[in-house]
Amino acid sequence: MSSKKLQFSLLLVAVLMTAGTTRADKLTYYCSAQEDWCQLMARSFEEATGIDVNMTRKSSGETFAQIRAEASNPKGDVWWGGTGDPHLQAAEEGLTEEYLSPMRGELQDWAISQAESSGNRTIGIYSGALGYGYNTELLAANNLPEPACWNDLLKPEFKGHVQMANPNSSGTAYTTLASIVQIFGEDEGFEFMKGLHANINQYTKSGSAPIKAAGRGETTIGIVFMHDAVKQAVSGFPIKVVAPCEGTGYEIGSMSIIAGARNMSEAKLFYDWALSAEAQNLALQVNAFQVPSNSNAETSSSAPDMSMIKLIDYDFAKYGSSAERKRLLQKWDEEVSTLPQ
Ligand code: F6P
Repeated sequence: MSSKKLQFSLLLVAVLMTAGTTRADKLTYYCSAQEDWCQLMARSFEEATGIDVNMTRKSSGETFAQIRAEASNPKGDVWWGGTGDPHLQAAEEGLTEEYLSPMRGELQDWAISQAESSGNRTIGIYSGALGYGYNTELLAANNLPEPACWNDLLKPEFKGHVQMANPNSSGTAYTTLASIVQIFGEDEGFEFMKGLHANINQYTKSGSAPIKAAGRGETTIGIVFMHDAVKQAVSGFPIKVVAPCEGTGYEIGSMSIIAGARNMSEAKLFYDWALSAEAQNLALQVNAFQVPSNSNAETSSSAPDMSMIKLIDYDFAKYGSSAERKRLLQKWDEEVSTLPQ
């Protein structure tokens, strides 16, 4: 047995003894990252522990809505991945369980801050900056100027060329809305979202769908996390990644245990395992280029260099609060999404 496996087995025994419960050997796992990464995490956890994993992949906002709808009879055990804001909202609404993992000592400060601001009901597992990507061939074929800023996306020549997700279902798109409001101020930010709406060809359900569509040549520009655009470029698609000149927001991808989980000891075991460097390094196998939260995990050399990006001081406490997320989404629904295009 490798020393890492031995270390993890000892951890497993410790967790089960602490939990003091009988293992059911199954886990219902809600995942809000990329499908291939979700699958790899599920299969690898099964291999490491022998616990059967039933995985469902849905976007961050959709998973939040599902956990809330199931609150009186929880069906999920652990929610891994997806942007931090809806995890924070779930924490505030008591939908997730407080837990102090023995793995915390290995984590970056930003992952622990996320935990502390939620009363330890969620924790950071990765981070990544928001931006957009464009298909260089389509841009040239349509004689379009190279965009470099958020404001460039409002140019009339980009009408029908920009795609983003719906901020209700997608954490990526909610991060976009909240970042724009923080960069430009609320009034100007909403004017920006209205101007952008005029150029949008489709609001997708999932946050990374727009850049996959750009890779396939179905849209010129996709507003996404920069790591999702890098994934397309590394896969050979003609995608150029942009860090917008005005500055941009970022996510702390998070993980939470669902309150009242039926398989609580398995959920805690998954949680501890998912915070290990070994589990976080699985990201490299599926070209997931986020920055991992375990200080000993590897960051790919293809990952966007966060120190080179003009990042705003994203206010997670405010934009992850239940009242603010609800208010912004309702305002976007009423004032932006209903406008003619
Ligand atoms: O795994 C890719 C990713 O962009 C994550 O970085 C992010 O947390 C998640 O997807 C957001 O997905 P969605 O926008 O569909 O909620």
